[in-house]
Amino acid sequence: MPRRSANINVMVRAAEKAGRGLIRDFGEVDHLQVSLKGPGDFVSAADLKAEQTVKDELRKGRPEFGFLMEESGHTDGSDSTHTWIVDPLDGTTNFLHGLPHFCISIALARKNEVVAGVIFDPVKDEVFWTERGIGAFVNNHRLRVSGRRHLENSIIATGAPFNLHDESVAELFIQQLRPIMRLTSGIRRYGSAALDLAYVAAGRYDGFWENGLNQWDVAAGILLVREAGGFVTDLRGLRYELGADNILATNEGLHDKLSNILIQK
Ligand code: IPD
Ligand code: CA
Ligand code: CA
Repeated sequence: MPRRSANINVMVRAAEKAGRGLIRDFGEVDHLQVSLKGPGDFVSAADLKAEQTVKDELRKGRPEFGFLMEESGHTDGSDSTHTWIVDPLDGTTNFLHGLPHFCISIALARKNEVVAGVIFDPVKDEVFWTERGIGAFVNNHRLRVSGRRHLENSIIATGAPFNLHDESVAELFIQQLRPIMRLTSGIRRYGSAALDLAYVAAGRYDGFWENGLNQWDVAAGILLVREAGGFVTDLRGLRYELGADNILATNEGLHDKLSNILIQK
């Protein structure tokens, strides 16, 4: 395994510190499930606290870089070319319901291109990390996307839209689901887009698509998948750029098949 760079060390330290806080709070969530008010406000506070921890740690390591964070938005740095893109808690609904599947996602973008990423799952103690041109890793192991070429033995992950005000969003998703259900060995909806991408990089899922994600959900994951030998595009098959409307991440052998199915529906 290559040595982790100074940037990766800063990112891992920030993610692990915030992860320890989230694990403590996750323990509390269980008690709050049964209260009348529920754990909602508590979880929002845990989320904000994790974001502050990540921000403080990253700033300590690299005081000049800017931020794009889910909860606090943009903060300019004196170095306008480098931005941390952070989701301090991806999988909030899982966390809220006591489901042990959530993570912290931190990416470093130079101009608009992600050059490093860390996704930390504090429950399973898995640190997914990547650097452009170096590769993708989980803890000390190198990652490689799956080698499956046939849809019929592939597992595809996705995210289902929720709390909808617009029926057409549900309709689009249902149209996308039908052929995937018909042609593959199954669909998974685990509730954390960042971990979905990490699992594609690890070859645990053969592919992942979702509509309407934000940059902080995917920034670290897209580099993980690419560095693990996978393709990350929009549903039409064009190279995924931060801010795109939808995302498809998969191995080379399945990419065109999935893209064709998802655009034709
Ligand atoms: C959500 C998760 C989920 C995805 C949602 C995201 P959050 O992020 O990544 O898997 O389907 O679209 O908003 O709210 O848990 O940070
Ligand atoms: Ca998220
Ligand atoms: Ca979040």
